[in-house]
Amino acid sequence: MSRSIEPIIVIGAGVIGLSCATVLQSRYPQAVITIVAAEFPDSNVPSADYASAWAGAHYRPIPQSTAQLRDEAQLAFRTMEVMRNIARNSPDAGVATMQGIEYVENPGDDVSGLRTGDVYAGPGDGFRILEQSELPVGAKWGCDYQTYALNVHVYCQWLLDRFVARGGKVFQYHLSRASEAFDLLQRDGGPPIKTVVNCSGRNFDQDPKMKIIRGQTVLVKQQYCKTITRQNRDGSWIFLIPRPRHGGTIVGGTKEIGDFYEKARPETRSKLLQMCVEAFPDFVGSVEEFEVIKDNVGRRPWRDGGVRTEVEAFGQDRRIVHSYGAGGRGYELSWGIAERVAQLMGRNSNIPARL
Ligand SMILES: Cc1cc2nc3c(=O)[nH]c(=O)nc-3n(C[C@H](O)[C@H](O)[C@H](O)COP(=O)(O)OP(=O)(O)OC[C@H]3O[C@@H](n4cnc5c(N)ncnc54)[C@H](O)[C@@H]3O)c2cc1C
Ligand SMILES: *[C@@H]1O[C@H](CO)[C@@H](O)[C@H](O)[C@H]1NC(C)=O
Repeated sequence: MSRSIEPIIVIGAGVIGLSCATVLQSRYPQAVITIVAAEFPDSNVPSADYASAWAGAHYRPIPQSTAQLRDEAQLAFRTMEVMRNIARNSPDAGVATMQGIEYVENPGDDVSGLRTGDVYAGPGDGFRILEQSELPVGAKWGCDYQTYALNVHVYCQWLLDRFVARGGKVFQYHLSRASEAFDLLQRDGGPPIKTVVNCSGRNFDQDPKMKIIRGQTVLVKQQYCKTITRQNRDGSWIFLIPRPRHGGTIVGGTKEIGDFYEKARPETRSKLLQMCVEAFPDFVGSVEEFEVIKDNVGRRPWRDGGVRTEVEAFGQDRRIVHSYGAGGRGYELSWGIAERVAQLMGRNSNIPARL
């Protein structure tokens, strides 16, 4: 076996780093791939900056009203295809397909163009606009389609275990900058490290286009059967995301731009549970009946203009492949992003691609 194949370093063990590492491992089975990250899925007390530990997570499509959203829709469709296969073939991964429902109190132009039979979540999603008679009081628009949700802890650990079982390496370390990774794992006499994949979410904090969007949700023990979202007239949201494999249900959630407060606000919890009882009376009948497991607070790594997937030359023969800034959509775009990264690397590398 040739040992001259370049090693690859992936910074980050969130859903983006784990997905990129997985795709690169299948494209370059002979390369030694190492994930370097400050936090891993088995971390007991994840920080608010480790977004993947705090997500719902469901796939809720966004109508394709801008070029960025059209591009993200392609990434999301591809991800849906992979997630459906995972749900079918690997039940222990914590991914399940399910019905998705949406209600909107104040529908805008983005949804008014949608028609029953359109491809919304992906091909074969059974997308249907709800009849007026099917809408709850106050909602003016609604839809029904097939989607998926996942148990983030089970899923990220599954990705990591699979990566390691296939020969991937992991290294827990807090980098002071991305370029530090080139020298960190360079072995004496070993092949030079030329490629670092930057899936660091937002922690390096150098890109002025990066912002955070705080999200607070409540995990309750009761298990719902579908994922449902209501957008209220005042701009607030209420949604339910069941976590497969008996993980309970996420009652969410807030979207607070630039709010770094890392503790849960009790008044936010009360408001979410109250809104849930009002909006989804078939789930839990009263606030007192909820069995709360915990509050979640995470920072979505949002980037103006969308996720950055780009190769940056670094000195003579080194490069950093960027893959960060997925905002509130990291899970639902993950496989599409990872394949795009692998494609970028193929075009800019002498690593032989083996599929
Ligand atoms: C409340 C909430 C609900 C959400 N719901 C959904 C949802 O329903 N669907 C969906 O698709 N998305 C959802 N998201 C968004 C999703 O969580 C993120 O888009 C996704 O987790 C981003 O993944 P990432 O891998 O880019 O970053 P992260 O998960 O933040 O991972 C970053 C990684 O980089 C490492 N790292 C960073 N800096 C350094 C350093 N200096 N040295 C070493 N390692 C470093 C970290 O340790 C970590 O391993 C939600 C987010 C929140 C907060
Ligand atoms: C790597 O990612 C971070 C986001 O975490 C970004 O701020 C930074 O500019 C990227 N590039 C380098 C070289 O660190």
